[in-house]
Amino acid sequence: MRTSFQSGLLLASMMAPLASAERVVGAYIFARHGDRTAKVSGNTELTDLGYREVFDAGSFYNARYINNSSAKYIEGISSNVVNLTQVQASAPVDAVLQNSGTGFLQGVYPPVGATMGSMKLANGTTVQSPLQGYQLIPLSVVGDGDDSEDSSWLQGTTNCPQATVSSNNYFLSSQYMELLSSTNDFYHSLSPMLTAAFNESSTNFLNAYEIFDYLNVARIHNSSANFPHSDLLNDSVYHQLLTLANAHEYGLAYNKSEPVRAIAGAILAGEILEGLNDTITGAGELLGLQFGSYGTFLSFFGLMQLPKASIDFTGIPDYASSFVLELVTDAPGTGMPDTDEINVRFTFHNGTLTGSDEPVAYPLFGTSNVLMSWSDFVSETQKIAVTDDTNLCGMCGLTTGSCATSSSSASSTADDSSSGSGGISRPVAGVIGAMVTLAVILGLEAVFFLIGGFTIAKRRKHGAVESSTGAMTEDKK
Ligand SMILES: *[C@@H]1O[C@H](CO)[C@@H](O)[C@H](O)[C@H]1NC(C)=O
Ligand SMILES: *[C@@H]1O[C@H](CO)[C@@H](O)[C@H](O)[C@H]1NC(C)=O
Ligand SMILES: *[C@@H]1O[C@H](CO)[C@@H](O)[C@H](O)[C@H]1NC(C)=O
Ligand SMILES: *[C@@H]1O[C@H](CO)[C@@H](O)[C@H](O)[C@H]1NC(C)=O
Ligand SMILES: *[C@@H]1O[C@H](CO)[C@@H](O)[C@H](O)[C@H]1NC(C)=O
Ligand SMILES: *[C@@H]1O[C@H](CO)[C@@H](O)[C@H](O)[C@H]1NC(C)=O
Ligand SMILES: *[C@@H]1O[C@H](CO)[C@@H](O)[C@H](O)[C@H]1NC(C)=O
Ligand SMILES: *[C@@H]1O[C@H](CO)[C@@H](O)[C@H](O)[C@H]1NC(C)=O
Ligand SMILES: *[C@@H]1O[C@H](CO)[C@@H](O)[C@H](O)[C@H]1NC(C)=O
Ligand SMILES: *[C@@H]1O[C@H](CO)[C@@H](O)[C@H](O)[C@H]1NC(C)=O
Repeated sequence: MRTSFQSGLLLASMMAPLASAERVVGAYIFARHGDRTAKVSGNTELTDLGYREVFDAGSFYNARYINNSSAKYIEGISSNVVNLTQVQASAPVDAVLQNSGTGFLQGVYPPVGATMGSMKLANGTTVQSPLQGYQLIPLSVVGDGDDSEDSSWLQGTTNCPQATVSSNNYFLSSQYMELLSSTNDFYHSLSPMLTAAFNESSTNFLNAYEIFDYLNVARIHNSSANFPHSDLLNDSVYHQLLTLANAHEYGLAYNKSEPVRAIAGAILAGEILEGLNDTITGAGELLGLQFGSYGTFLSFFGLMQLPKASIDFTGIPDYASSFVLELVTDAPGTGMPDTDEINVRFTFHNGTLTGSDEPVAYPLFGTSNVLMSWSDFVSETQKIAVTDDTNLCGMCGLTTGSCATSSSSASSTADDSSSGSGGISRPVAGVIGAMVTLAVILGLEAVFFLIGGFTIAKRRKHGAVESSTGAMTEDKK
């Protein structure tokens, strides 16, 4: 009896992993660019270090999702030669983000070598592809309200007027006012390090991110000969600069009371929802990838209520950080299971993934379980995501360009508190409130320009359609 009990246990323990073996049936990765030059110097570029970082992160995901001996192999995805119907990658029009995307993809699908990277022609000649079977993966352009890495101002290139108004409201908040005055002496004590890039009147909390960024870049790249007074940047000063930059940028990226401020995250959420849904219905990719900047991360983190899981989500993610939304199932067999057997899991890693690093799973929307059913994920995400142009035009207050065609709905949403499916509240309480705010802001902006706080940068314009509202569409073809 004892023996049969033991063998029963043994059998159960052998069966258990089989019965509960989780299958990954799709994933969507969002990643930050790697190390780059300082924003304040303009013409921002990905550095060799940054290229290395994104390549390493991409290689990690190759081992995790593409290699068919991995426990997290995405079922059915091609393991060596990329199948372009299975992978969709996109990035905004920006040199740092586009190059980061390319470098990352080189890691996800590395060169296949001379044998696989060759083909035989009709006349019997064998040709080899360049660079040991380097794999070409198109990177489409997303105009997702993202900022260009050249822009020093978070909403400067979103083409979403209401988001700009909302972010500007941050400069009227008591949090901002208090930090501006309480940190004045701190910033001025750092002036000796900053004189090459900031004058006295711009050495304050208004430029919290640009100052942190400039010194962070110097800390990584400049020898002491190239970094006068670098001794002032000790660990506690660095940490203080980081903490202040985090508060400043999170303030610009997200405010629970003003959803439009997080427009970049709302558009990303809509794209992720569409991508994962296409995976499930078989209409699209198995692996989606998008590259973006910290502003989009912070807006998305706020909307997904990740700060409830960890307060660290109110901080700027390090270079080459990435998060993934995985579609997983415990249903046995192969192939796409019924939607009620699919769960979504969010995992994040702060900074470059290498070696034994493991992304950490966090619960979304203030729940306590890292697995969320697909239907709950859909209904929660639809509350915060931008899922169509009409929705976007209304939220942003746009009535021209591609929004003109839906102008009747755009103007009618001016009084609505939500649109049909999304339930997104109008950000600014009433037209009068918005006009007053705008007037105050225009005055404030004039002051900012006078004191040289920041400039509103123009989007780079190589290639893509950058018409005023065209860039705001969530088209990701
Ligand atoms: C896949 O992973 C296994 C185990 O980690 C490793 O031995 C193998 O080299 C990997 N294959 C490729 C093509 O990277
Ligand atoms: C796993 O991938 C390798 C190429 O990396 C391929 O040769 C092999 O056939 C695949 N195995 C299965 C079971 O698909
Ligand atoms: C590429 O992937 C699609 C969808 O998974 C599949 O139908 C097709 O057969 C694949 N093509 C090749 C050449 O394997
Ligand atoms: C075979 O065709 C390729 C491509 O058209 C050409 O470059 C090559 O010279 C041809 N080889 C011979 C032996 O004709
Ligand atoms: C958030 O929005 C509310 C309502 O518009 C505003 O009172 C508050 O100052 C804002 N907070 C920040 C930090 O922007
Ligand atoms: C770091 O070096 C660059 C290039 O020499 C220079 O432009 C920049 O001002 C330096 N940064 C600091 C903080 O000194
Ligand atoms: C860092 O520098 C600040 C300002 O000079 C100083 O007050 C602080 O004691 C220093 N901290 C450390 C750990 O050296
Ligand atoms: C998923 O796609 C199907 C088919 O296109 C569509 O009917 C459904 O509304 C989509 N669901 C979501 C959540 O987008
Ligand atoms: C990532 O690390 C930075 C410090 O390097 C921190 O400020 C931020 O809060 C961290 N974010 C998360 C989500 O862990
Ligand atoms: C400070 O620098 C900004 C440019 O960063 C410039 O526009 C402004 O005029 C300067 N202010 C003074 C007082 O020199």
